[in-house]
Amino acid sequence: MAKLKVGVLISGRGSNMAALIAATKAADYPAEIAVVVSNVADAAGLKTAQEAGIATAAIPHKGFPDRESFDRAVSAELEKHGVGLVALAGFLRIQSPWFPAHWQDRIVNIHPSLLPAFPGLHVQQQAIDAGARISGCTVHFVTAELDSGPIIAQAAVPVLPGDTADTLAARILRQEHRLYPMVVRWFAEGRLSVAGAQVTVAGVPKGATLLFSAEP
Ligand code: GRF
Repeated sequence: MAKLKVGVLISGRGSNMAALIAATKAADYPAEIAVVVSNVADAAGLKTAQEAGIATAAIPHKGFPDRESFDRAVSAELEKHGVGLVALAGFLRIQSPWFPAHWQDRIVNIHPSLLPAFPGLHVQQQAIDAGARISGCTVHFVTAELDSGPIIAQAAVPVLPGDTADTLAARILRQEHRLYPMVVRWFAEGRLSVAGAQVTVAGVPKGATLLFSAEP
């Protein structure tokens, strides 16, 4: 069967993108990365993708008069590559409402907190400052509202005494790299359905949408 073509949007290091690339190397993985697009021309992740033989495009947002015209250019690039799923992976650009509407139910994001707690930026520090004992990451469908949208799966990790934003971020990131490829697989296998805020994943064991890791 033809593999689902995924377009990954990045702005920086691209470790989640790299985790997706690694997952696609398995012969039975039902998706492939068709193109990686960055709004930052020198994003390190672009080089990683090129070294893996994946098509890349740098589309600096500064060249556009407004958000929507940038979003339309990104979309055209994705469509040129036959993309059926857009995966935001550290894409640090707020999108116009047009983009998630255009890709509705075909666009996902990974966020380094247990949403709806701690949307926005510096979220590991937010979790520490709030005294949270648990945090993690969330993969969700993208809607016009930032870091909201139906939750598909989450991975939870402890917040440990003495954690800094960096140590917590590293613990969460290890789980991001497990969670994102798992969700993209489910999407590609046609298992996901959305009704309002509820996402169901057909044919997976109960509880499969929540990973735990107690690793320090
Ligand atoms: C990750 O923590 C992701 O959850 C967030 O931005 C970070 C991107 O890291 N949205 P990377 O570029 O995938 O390494």
